[in-house]
Amino acid sequence: MIDQKLADELRRRAGEGDRSVLRSPELRSLFDELKTKPEGERAAFGQEINALRQELAKMLDQKQDQAEALTPVDITAPFDVNIPAAQRPGLLPAEQGSRHPLMTELSNILDIFYRMGFTAVESREIDDDFHMFGSLNFPEGHPARDDYDTFMTTQTDQKGQQLIAPAHTSTMQNRVMQQLKHKLEQGEPIAAVIPGRVFRNEDLDARHEHTFYQLEGVYVDKGINAGHLIATLKAFLQEYYGQELEVRTNPFYFPFTEPSFEFMLSCPFCDKKGCNVCSYSGWIELLGCGMIHPNVLHHAGIDTNIYTGFAWGGGIDRLVMMKYGIEDVRYFHSGRLDFLRQFP
Ligand code: DAH
Repeated sequence: MIDQKLADELRRRAGEGDRSVLRSPELRSLFDELKTKPEGERAAFGQEINALRQELAKMLDQKQDQAEALTPVDITAPFDVNIPAAQRPGLLPAEQGSRHPLMTELSNILDIFYRMGFTAVESREIDDDFHMFGSLNFPEGHPARDDYDTFMTTQTDQKGQQLIAPAHTSTMQNRVMQQLKHKLEQGEPIAAVIPGRVFRNEDLDARHEHTFYQLEGVYVDKGINAGHLIATLKAFLQEYYGQELEVRTNPFYFPFTEPSFEFMLSCPFCDKKGCNVCSYSGWIELLGCGMIHPNVLHHAGIDTNIYTGFAWGGGIDRLVMMKYGIEDVRYFHSGRLDFLRQFP
């Protein structure tokens, strides 16, 4: 027989939600005691210990469920608007929730760009073929269209084309340039950042989600060149990570920029010495960018004899993962409270 005093003490601790009881020396001592029992009593004693262990685990789970359960609210109940605010029905008490880490970081990111003179325009979550491809210089049937693993609706628009869940925030480039081109006539640049949720039909793993966030940037003025692009992104990244960083560009291909680059950042974790974040290369491939293709400017009605511009687009999830050392992108959408509660 298990010592009842000891069993009751363990039950008391489990009742209080103390998870360490399952690994406690007291519980372990019972298993030690089991070894000293004569053969005939061993099976019964073993069963008793297991039953106690299961009972404790169940008590702990119940305690946790209780702690996480929200007080039910009758949302149909009428209430008197004159009663004090604290006594009115509320759906979710504020202490049960917190801002999602991606949204907190997005406002930090936007603050940096506001200080640099950019405005922000939000992207949309359903768009059409022209904004996803045509306006971005992807000719019909161009193989680069297939690179974007795009989700499409079964319904079609007036032109008979399927609607699209944007696979990148570049879908907004044409709209933003149309909307802000009056600035050019006033002698001011078009300077906009476009955060948005994007969707790709791809295989999921620690680095790939079907839904993630991107930040697009568009800058157009007289005399803009790739030096401005690199300096802008470097200034932003140094501000965001709060440290000096080296940057590098590699030639790349996007239909909507010419020249196009892949933008690399010296690894902020290992100072280019090599670590698992940068796959031991010292560099991290961060985003795509380039000088806006003249066809894209034409589509937006901007005179390419006078103006040039740069654009970039990259994952926000990626930036945040690097900032906090988050190893799996899927945590962001998992709804796991133990993950979210680390970002109060
Ligand atoms: N839209 C590209 C992507 O998601 C990234 C990109 C590349 C955006 C170059 C740009 C750009 O604005 O100029 O892969």
